[in-house]
Amino acid sequence: MNFVSVGGAGAHEGFCLIKTAEKKLTAKGVPYLDLVLADNSGEISAKLWDYKESPDNQYNKFDFVKVRGTYVPFNDTMQFRVERIRRVLPEDNVMIEDYVPSACLTGDVMLAEVEKIVDSFKDEELRKLVFAVIEEYRERILYWPAAKNLHHAVRSGLLMHTLSILRLAESVCRIYRFVNYDLLCSGAILHDIAKIEEMDVSSTGIASEYTTKGNLLGHLVMGAINIDRIGRNLGVSDETLMLVEHMLISHHGTPEFGAAKLPMFIEAELLSELDLMDARLYEMRSAVDAVEEGAFTPRQWALENRNLYNHGRAYNGETELINEYGLTVKMGRFAEHMEIYTVLDGPINLVQEY
Ligand SMILES: [Fe+2]
Ligand SMILES: [Fe+2]
Repeated sequence: MNFVSVGGAGAHEGFCLIKTAEKKLTAKGVPYLDLVLADNSGEISAKLWDYKESPDNQYNKFDFVKVRGTYVPFNDTMQFRVERIRRVLPEDNVMIEDYVPSACLTGDVMLAEVEKIVDSFKDEELRKLVFAVIEEYRERILYWPAAKNLHHAVRSGLLMHTLSILRLAESVCRIYRFVNYDLLCSGAILHDIAKIEEMDVSSTGIASEYTTKGNLLGHLVMGAINIDRIGRNLGVSDETLMLVEHMLISHHGTPEFGAAKLPMFIEAELLSELDLMDARLYEMRSAVDAVEEGAFTPRQWALENRNLYNHGRAYNGETELINEYGLTVKMGRFAEHMEIYTVLDGPINLVQEY
């Protein structure tokens, strides 16, 4: 852990993320918190003895905290005995991206890139509609993940997934000239936006649960309802709303995966295919990166139960990209296969490649 020594007597302190938190009782019936704390250097088991629970003194999985305590040997390893703990405050000035699995680029860099694309739309109605939807979710979209467990289940993963689809859409439109770029990009930006209401997410950007509304309606239908409401308030035409709403309710491709309709025009079909492509590539890459070169992954249930092979010839696109743009970045590791890049400066028109 990156804790620093403070005030002698073996005391250390630092910022970390709570990976797990469980309230337990000692043999004498005294409550304590059994924790796993993590930062970008690794994780450690920790105990907060004599825990007095109160509304101001509650700690849960994914809380971002500052702790002070001492390392104590336990069964051939080290444990951390927590003496003081509190939530991280804005004045602490620490970057949460250094402590939780995060997208390669920060949310504000990616949102600026998305907005630049919307600004280039020739279709005034779509421009107005997409900007209004972004405005409604502006604060949360910056850190929202795209999933609870599967693809892009990282801080700012929703924007990372959105931006990847937008860049795929740009390439596709260069080849198939009859595709309506503004319509396809609108679908790309809006297709998963209701995930912001589908999942409960802490301020760390990691999802904990699906909401009741998310379970009962799902982000496809919720997205269409929201877009209809926002569009009607703006006076967007029925025809435009119908096309966008169709893209939303059909983007999972088939009823088996939650689509209410099969995609019934070209931009809807493309959105569904690009969405699937980006999600599957993310999952394949995460699985392959987690095993040694020349090894096979365990069976991947989300990828037809395949064992995937790490051929060891993948390019590290992020590093090349960051070098190309001459950015100053800080790189850390959260887990074995998770690299974290925090962009500290650089041009806003940065593109993300994943
Ligand atoms: Fe989706
Ligand atoms: Fe998606």
